[in-house]
Amino acid sequence: MISYARQTQDEQPEAPPPPAEEHIAPAPRVSVQAFCETVETAAAVQSAGEDRRLGKAHLKIQMGGMAAAIEAYRSAPTPNVIVLESDARNDLLAGLDQLATVCDAGTRVVVIGRINDVMLYRELVRRGVSDYVLAPVGPIDVVRSICNLFSAPEAKAVGRIIAVVGAKGGVGASTISHNVAWAIARDLAMDAVVADLDLAFGTAGLDYNQDPPQGIADAVFSPDRVDTAFIDRLLSKCTDHLSLLAAPATLDRVYDFGTDAFDAVFDTLRATMPCIVLDIPHQWSGWTKRALIGADDILIVAAPDLANLRNTKNLFDLLKAARPNDRPPLYCLNQVGVPKRPEIAATEFAKAIESQPVVSIPFEPQIFGAAANNGQMIAEISANHKSIEMFLQIAQRLTGRSETKKQKSSLLSPLIEKLRGK
Ligand SMILES: Nc1ncnc2c1ncn2[C@@H]1O[C@H](COP(=O)(O)OP(=O)(O)OP(=O)(O)O)[C@@H](O)[C@H]1O
Ligand SMILES: [Mg+2]
Repeated sequence: MISYARQTQDEQPEAPPPPAEEHIAPAPRVSVQAFCETVETAAAVQSAGEDRRLGKAHLKIQMGGMAAAIEAYRSAPTPNVIVLESDARNDLLAGLDQLATVCDAGTRVVVIGRINDVMLYRELVRRGVSDYVLAPVGPIDVVRSICNLFSAPEAKAVGRIIAVVGAKGGVGASTISHNVAWAIARDLAMDAVVADLDLAFGTAGLDYNQDPPQGIADAVFSPDRVDTAFIDRLLSKCTDHLSLLAAPATLDRVYDFGTDAFDAVFDTLRATMPCIVLDIPHQWSGWTKRALIGADDILIVAAPDLANLRNTKNLFDLLKAARPNDRPPLYCLNQVGVPKRPEIAATEFAKAIESQPVVSIPFEPQIFGAAANNGQMIAEISANHKSIEMFLQIAQRLTGRSETKKQKSSLLSPLIEKLRGK
């Protein structure tokens, strides 16, 4: 897997975060040792190690390049991944040959170098090098290279986690996450699952009119049993493309989870589900923070008042700092235009957050209330309601996908719908 085509020699180390369409799956619990020659590369590798996608990997960085690597593995076992920075062609190839004699089977080697030459790439491939990344490298280049070693190319589309959280309680985060997931499944035709993480009070079951006997609690309370088959049994099917991992919404036990309580569930969902929408309750705990930081994309739902503004700003600041190689979170305003309520305008919000809301969803108690009480989505209650277009817009921004159903109002629509139903 040679990646020279991805970069040019002129690329700056501070490359922008990857576009929404690029999805880098997190690396498993692997050991990575880097042997750098330059401080710039060492710094990029260091920041890569702090990226959420390498959160589980153990990364060690040393200077000294090839010579240091050969010296280090004379006696010590080799890790899962060795990252080598090397600039000189002959030293590199000779060094790799020497390294090969001490490398354990299964160790993968990534080389960072400045020589952009097909002959060199061929030689590297022949020696079993897994990836060659052209310097200068940015953190995301290192993240991408390491993560790609462990994700099969055909699994690329799998496992994007979208976290939705309210800036305050009751602002409609759950309602929006459910309607957005619905749009992802129906209009973008992506298989999606909604995981209701509000175990005590979650409403996803009510909203989709489902009452499954089991759900997320069964998984989170028996993490050792969690695998794809186990999770599959806990999912209830809402529509063709949409499943639900429901909350028990019972109070017979309390839900004081540890920071990584949901890791196994998320990892398992990622392996098979293209899109996982997390309905995160409005609370600040180890596991909610971890779920947000670890997500591929984030949507913050805010109502237009001061407390929401402050909390959105705080969430943005924290998440941007914790995810320097990702695009910033998205946010939307909801319940805008409550009669007689003084509100902060979207422009003011945007100025303070330094980012525009994806959409501003109006306060419409009648339709939202009816949907909630009937266990239906807004689109089922009122096919042409203006919020439906907004849910779709959010879905597109979050997934980086555009609508597949282009012939929305064409003569063929009923036929296409029918065919899709089969
Ligand atoms: N745009 C809207 N117009 C009118 N009512 C809305 C709107 N959005 C959500 N609601 C209503 O607001 C209430 C709270 O919504 P929801 O449960 O989705 O909020 P939440 O942020 O998830 O709350 P919690 O903090 O409990 O998780 C629900 O009754 C919902 O129907
Ligand atoms: Mg909620």
